[in-house]
Amino acid sequence: MQTRLIVFQGISTMSKFFSEAASVEAVNVRMGERADPRLKHVMSSLVKHLHAFIKDVHLTQNEWELAIDFLTRTGQICSEERQEFILLSDTLGVSMLVDAINNRRPQTATENTVLGPFHVKGAPEREMGTRISFDGKGESCLFDGRVMDLDGNAIAGARIDVWSDNAEGFYDVQQPDIQPKWNNRGVFTTGSDGRYSFIGIKPVSYPIPHDGPVGKMLEALERHPYRPAHMHFIVTAPDFQRLVTHTFVGDDAYMTSDAVFGVKETLVAPYTRLQNAVTTWHSTFDFVLTPSSRGRELEIY
Ligand code: BEZ
Ligand code: FE
Repeated sequence: MQTRLIVFQGISTMSKFFSEAASVEAVNVRMGERADPRLKHVMSSLVKHLHAFIKDVHLTQNEWELAIDFLTRTGQICSEERQEFILLSDTLGVSMLVDAINNRRPQTATENTVLGPFHVKGAPEREMGTRISFDGKGESCLFDGRVMDLDGNAIAGARIDVWSDNAEGFYDVQQPDIQPKWNNRGVFTTGSDGRYSFIGIKPVSYPIPHDGPVGKMLEALERHPYRPAHMHFIVTAPDFQRLVTHTFVGDDAYMTSDAVFGVKETLVAPYTRLQNAVTTWHSTFDFVLTPSSRGRELEIY
């Protein structure tokens, strides 16, 4: 208490009351000595940047009310099935920034990208090489490749969880009464050669959910809600960092304007048209995992 008072009085221009000039200090000085240090660090920086932003744009009372209303509607539309705040974070580039900061990897390792709201835990474990697409729509595509460590050695026992939209741009969970359950989803485990393969469809671009406040925000900013076509992957293996990623269809019209900023150049996969085959397309992509041990991480960075 004593220290707080001294710090407070130590700022020459400051009174004991709130003022525009000393707004940040007025708030941050209230934090107690026993509050968690990391929480104090994060919150004092948040207050500093938030106040600077409000001063920078000279936020009007009406704009403040609009912002409160926007956040209220964002919360109100959230449910077990829908997370509008994450969508807001995705469309503002915040999800990808947090992901980038927390997944710095050696150059040769496969890059992470956004998880998205359509992953479902507990997808069926399938035999290598089998189908994941069951609604009879779309152009079939053989996906294959290897899971490797940084030295190119095969990783056995890697678990590959995959999911994509259907040919009409919807995930099965968006159309539970139309699509078969677990359509375009499956889990595969690599053998000693580290190889994986399965037959899905060539994914198509689709809009993120845009019938809520985030959709309205995009519209007001003259931004479209589309994501370029991609296949989702989560690759996990003991002693390696979890890889959450996609592979992209490189010639998609939305590659350079993904609504959630998830595209990375290294994640573009080839799509080759197969001649005289039952399967129409072939897409090969190798995943390179980063070890999870701390010692190794220090060595890399
Ligand atoms: C997705 O790729 O499934 C996705 C990612 C972020 C927001 C919406 C959808
Ligand atoms: Fe997706």
